[in-house]
Amino acid sequence: MAGSSWTATVDEAKVREGSPVAVYPKGVGVLLVRLDGEIHAIRNKCAHMACPLEGGSLEGSILTCPCHDWRFDVRSGEFLDAPELRIPVYATRVEDGKVLVDLTEA
Ligand code: FES
Repeated sequence: MAGSSWTATVDEAKVREGSPVAVYPKGVGVLLVRLDGEIHAIRNKCAHMACPLEGGSLEGSILTCPCHDWRFDVRSGEFLDAPELRIPVYATRVEDGKVLVDLTEA
């Protein structure tokens, strides 16, 4: 697909419901989150002061940054208190048991 940058990451089976997994396709920090069976990918870097989000807590689709509790929706990357602030999210797909991430930002 023109303009896309699909990159393989981990085995699909490693991404379990409610347990975000940090991956580094092409050196980019990305967090994979499975919600209702679907895998979402969000940049693993907070929009506030760039803390990694992987140590944050997840409730449904809401991920809370471990540093200062900013909350983001992992489906859209939106900061809940000001949706105009967003973290990049990426398209995902599964191929041959691996999770692929399209590093072209959505
Ligand atoms: S760095 Fe995430 S809330 Fe401050």
